[in-house]
Amino acid sequence: MASFSLVSKIPTFENLASCKNVCSLVPKTANGLLQDQFGLLGGSLGRFSLVSSNQAHSFTDPISIDEVPLLSGLEAFERMRRSRESYESKQQYKAMYSSCFGGITTDPAAMVIPMDDHMVHRGHGVFDTAAIVDGCLYELEQHLDRFLNSAKMAKIKLPFDKESIKRILVQTATASKCRTGSLRYWLSSGPGDFQLSPAGCCHSALYAIVIEDKSPSNYSGVKVVTTSIPIKPPQFATVKSVNYLPNVLTKMEAEENGGYAAIWLDADGFVAEGPNMNVAFVTKEKELLMPRFDKILSGCTAKRVLVLAEDLVKEGKLRDIRVENVTVNEGKSAAEMMLIGSGVLVRSVLQWDEQIIGDGREGPVSKALLGLLLQDLKSGPATVRLPISY
Ligand SMILES: Cc1ncc(COP(=O)(O)O)c(C=O)c1O
Repeated sequence: MASFSLVSKIPTFENLASCKNVCSLVPKTANGLLQDQFGLLGGSLGRFSLVSSNQAHSFTDPISIDEVPLLSGLEAFERMRRSRESYESKQQYKAMYSSCFGGITTDPAAMVIPMDDHMVHRGHGVFDTAAIVDGCLYELEQHLDRFLNSAKMAKIKLPFDKESIKRILVQTATASKCRTGSLRYWLSSGPGDFQLSPAGCCHSALYAIVIEDKSPSNYSGVKVVTTSIPIKPPQFATVKSVNYLPNVLTKMEAEENGGYAAIWLDADGFVAEGPNMNVAFVTKEKELLMPRFDKILSGCTAKRVLVLAEDLVKEGKLRDIRVENVTVNEGKSAAEMMLIGSGVLVRSVLQWDEQIIGDGREGPVSKALLGLLLQDLKSGPATVRLPISY
């Protein structure tokens, strides 16, 4: 698999025909034809018509499960495209890298991962993100370190070294031409078989996708509830693995109860985190109080906020910054409560269960921290912003 070491310049599917290394990986179709002969790899599938279809009805017709069609690879691919086009999404997928095909595609219909990937059927994968703001990747280095640590905890061998992974991610962002959105990436033990052990996985896999999201930001205050879903034990909560079932269930529980997010308490009853964000409080004595990271995910945004908050201490808006265990009573009687994460940035919590937090309005420290973070996203130092050269 010579192309897997080809990480200094990844082929995009626009120029794939000229890349012999990768063409050799392209599977043959049922017709024995290389898929790229049909423009399938050039993001131009819309131009070709299906080779052999005697299906009179369209894919969007009501589906009869009595006559499930047997499809050629190309037909399945075309139906995949039509299925994608049949639903509206605020998110657009601009580019995907896969070590399985050793390149980047800008065709959403080709943005798939193998069914026998251990991450798909056993959850043996880890992931991370980085925001794309005004053409810069925000905190890529910090997220990448957490990503590699998650992979180590999940015993997933790296398919490339850290610098090569970074180059792949940056090239994927470049190919996407996206200026506002996010980069998400996964490491998995890879495809191979459907066994429980990853021993049969031929090689670990790296996937990355760039998602453009132009929906307007909403930073208004929210309600949260205490979740009834058990928290992951620290060994798993500290790893950003693809096992987000508990996180999804807590989010659903929050929504069912008129909340935005649900808050986990740890095994000792201390405040832990939300389903995809950390939490912080401002005490009545003007101290920023954040739960320790030893039993929860070490949030890159929360850690950055701790640094940015030092400005507020200098300005006298905060008296102190403390990272320690927080009791529910301390949390509920705080002057301010906020959710912090790469998705929410800093969002005030106005109500936790039946308890109104502070005066029930977005507090001054939460607002100031959101302002500092937004500024950092747009014009922070080189340690947190990596310009993408499109
Ligand atoms: C469980 C959990 N906690 C906290 C966070 C916040 O981390 P970050 O600020 O790096 O996005 C996330 C992010 O997705 C998460 O999934």
